[in-house]
Amino acid sequence: MAKVAIMGFGTVGSGVYDIIKTNREKLYRNTNGEMVDIKYILDIRDFDDHPEKELFTKDFNDILNDSEVTVVAEVMGGLHPAYEFTKSLLESGKSVVTSNKELVATYGTELLDIAREKNVNYLFEASVGGGIPIIRPMHQCLTANNIKSIAGILNGTTNYILNEMIKKGKTFDDALKDAQNNGYAERNPAADIEGHDACRKIAILSSLASGYAVDYNDIETEGITNITLDDVKYASAMNSVIKLIGYAKLFDDGKIYSIVSPMLVKNSSPLAGVDGVFNAILVTGDCVGDVMFYGAGAGKLPTASAVVADIVDAVKHFERSKKIMWVKPENNIMASSEDKSFAYFVRTTASADDVAKVFGKCEFVDNVVAGESAFVTAEMTGSEAKEKFSKLDIVSGIRILD
Ligand code: HSE
Repeated sequence: MAKVAIMGFGTVGSGVYDIIKTNREKLYRNTNGEMVDIKYILDIRDFDDHPEKELFTKDFNDILNDSEVTVVAEVMGGLHPAYEFTKSLLESGKSVVTSNKELVATYGTELLDIAREKNVNYLFEASVGGGIPIIRPMHQCLTANNIKSIAGILNGTTNYILNEMIKKGKTFDDALKDAQNNGYAERNPAADIEGHDACRKIAILSSLASGYAVDYNDIETEGITNITLDDVKYASAMNSVIKLIGYAKLFDDGKIYSIVSPMLVKNSSPLAGVDGVFNAILVTGDCVGDVMFYGAGAGKLPTASAVVADIVDAVKHFERSKKIMWVKPENNIMASSEDKSFAYFVRTTASADDVAKVFGKCEFVDNVVAGESAFVTAEMTGSEAKEKFSKLDIVSGIRILD
């Protein structure tokens, strides 16, 4: 019998509980004959009407000091006290699995080190892409490859909002409210719409791909709050869609460039048809070529599905550290926006002649909004784009995913 604890009984935590109860027999077979049994649920709220109310505790020490508990699911979110709890649990020889991307992106290197030292596991399949298997495939199945690039729709809430606005004509606020009611959105929706959630996820994937910790503070991040319905209409006229993309490019010299930004994605890209709360991650390896991982990127059962998979893995590998996944780099490994050029879709109130003077030869796009010029630039570095944009009255400038 494997005794586990769940820390946090919100959307994901209750999903973990439901799956462990519902798929009991299936989990038993997959742990090679160990029944996964929930011994504690930690939450500061009261759950007096819950059928197993005796499992609930408000005292973290009940879990920490119980030597029977070998695996703990940290699905409480946020940095504190999740960090302190996780650290104490790993130090006491318990494995921890989590969906907490903020924690993994911020303290992952340290927590992985402790797990290695203590011969236990710190697993975080649910931290990126919700229910999509991506951490384990990148770490294990693609291990023969040098990863060249990653382009992902990594935030279900923003993808859902963009989709509801475009296809159902909903307002931004209504679409956001729906995402919150469905349990997709972060407690502070700014984390979704300003791109911070996607930033943490691309930092985790960048660290996995390079083997070195990528600090999310080093990743240029722009959300979807400046995207308008007119931008969306232009995109549609150009056989494209606008998606919030987490992007990473790995260079042969070991440097890595990562960014989160709304990007114009051509309809011919497999990422273009990824709608609603779905996420997709397109990974390019030097041997395998392109592979795409697709599925529900948020929500109760999809995210809990990945957490429970990690619980099973941790039970099976009890007292055997899986030795993942990255280390702190000795030198700066971050490339800059000078190392990666993008073409841009630009809208301006300036005339076509003025556009040509600043941007040279451009590909003009039919007007959707009267009195504007809209065009696609040649590829430019970050500083070139900044310099040229400063010379004209720019309505919007959106990177194009290559
Ligand atoms: N708020 C996140 C999203 C939840 O919308 O993708 C899953 O990480």
